Amino acid sequence: MSSVMRCGHGRTRGLPALLVGALTLAFALTGGPATAAQQDTLHELAAAQGKYFGSATDNPELSDAAYAATLGSEFGQITPGNSMKWDTTEPVQGQFDFTKGDVITAFAAQHDQTVRGHTLVWHSQLPSWVGNLPPAQVEAAMTRHITEEATHYRGAVTAWDVVNEPFNEDGTFRTSPFYTAMGTDYVATALRAAHAADPDAKLYLNDYNIEGLGAKSDAMYALVSELLDEGVPLDGVGMQAHLAVQYGFPYQMQANMRRFADLGLDVAVTELDVRMQLPSDTAKSDTQAAYYRQVVEACLAVERCVGITVWDYTDKYSWVPSTFPGQGAANLYDENLLPKPAHGAVRTALGAGDDGGQGGEPGAFKAQYRNTDASVGDNQIKPGLQLVNTGGTAGDLSDVTLRYWFTAGNGAATYSSWCDWSPIGCSHVTHRVVAMDTPEAGADHYLEVGFTGGSLAPGASTGEIQLRLNKTDWSAFDESDDYSRGSGTSYADAPKIAVYAGDELVWGIEP
Ligand code: G3I
Repeated sequence: MSSVMRCGHGRTRGLPALLVGALTLAFALTGGPATAAQQDTLHELAAAQGKYFGSATDNPELSDAAYAATLGSEFGQITPGNSMKWDTTEPVQGQFDFTKGDVITAFAAQHDQTVRGHTLVWHSQLPSWVGNLPPAQVEAAMTRHITEEATHYRGAVTAWDVVNEPFNEDGTFRTSPFYTAMGTDYVATALRAAHAADPDAKLYLNDYNIEGLGAKSDAMYALVSELLDEGVPLDGVGMQAHLAVQYGFPYQMQANMRRFADLGLDVAVTELDVRMQLPSDTAKSDTQAAYYRQVVEACLAVERCVGITVWDYTDKYSWVPSTFPGQGAANLYDENLLPKPAHGAVRTALGAGDDGGQGGEPGAFKAQYRNTDASVGDNQIKPGLQLVNTGGTAGDLSDVTLRYWFTAGNGAATYSSWCDWSPIGCSHVTHRVVAMDTPEAGADHYLEVGFTGGSLAPGASTGEIQLRLNKTDWSAFDESDDYSRGSGTSYADAPKIAVYAGDELVWGIEP
């Protein structure tokens, strides 16, 4: 049993440290990343080097609170993945709808982020009416579309991908309604229209497979050289950087960036991800981390490389699996929004000190959870927890605590908590309820679970710890919105249950 303690959001210590002998349970290591406390965000690290670090996003994702929290805090720039494209903004000729894009620019304004506008002229996600126009009417339709959209977003968008993906792989121009109607001139016409509508926005041409030296990047180089010679308003080249571990790293990316920079253009990495054939394994994950690192290093080495945008930041919302069946795991964070080794590699490349962020470090832990309580409205909360040592060395349990967050509701402000059963023995488990000074959504208290001592071998699990808590007046809870509660009745990795080693968060996301 224990009674309630008051505590701020930060970490407090105070568990008894009686050593009870090693816990040498021999469950297999199931892997999984750990997060460690971090001092700087990706964007702060990049900004210290004069660059931005951004992510694509999309409207449906913003209702995912955990996703939006990391998007809003870790990144200094966002790009709408779909909401500013032609099929969304002018689905019917002359009928403009900027509702979705406005949500993105509002999010950016709230989080002090810049926005790359994506995209004004593209052969894809183009409503069929454009392709059905007589060629003689396409230029006017294109100019009107650009003018309306770039004017609407004036001040809210700092850069535009004015023309997206103009080239085929061999460097010839891609056929599109614009190319068919205007030939190569459509690019200059589009840039001039965008500049007239928003003279302050940086105007880009954007394409994939132009990251390294090769036929396609040569074509882009020739085009932008010609446009600059003609005095067409153009500020930069966007290199999408949809990479894949099985295709190798782009040939001489840094030298390629530099040749564009030497023309007086900015360069931006606009859509970075590194996919792989699933399932992921250590070798692929290491290659992926190396590719992410090399992209960051190339950008850092070229002054005119203004920043990097990942296409999106988590595997949870990646475009890859639906476009390349059997491939995925392309992003910096996994489907549970936990950072992967590539995230640590990016941080290191951006100059982070040894302050964490590297997934799966020795001595790391993870929490697993199952719901042992079918009722969300009764007078007890019953989480089942397991602690797993995911590191390569024995973990000292006297230093480890877990937190399960919940909301108290009405009734007594004092609690009893219980360990009902565990293979390691409930006498080795400590538990108490702590009230948060600053409640968060779904969390105004947490159950803190610790250990009287002992250690957990590499790969070992404590096995189930059956926990239970109630208010001392036995009034009911409403668990339906509780931050840490899940509905699964079998043990699974639980990112909403935190694990701390000492004062450091080593697993999970706090509310
Ligand atoms: O919104 C509809 C929804 O109503 C419908 O139920 C659903 C059924 O398929 O489709 C939804 O639209 C999808 C849209 O994303 C929004 O989620 C489209 O099918 C899907 O094709 C579209 O994919 C986008 C893709 O561009 C289209 O080419 C991706 O999200 C987007 O990330 C991707 O982004 C492109 C860049 O713009 C240019 N560079 C390559 C990059 C990756 O393909």
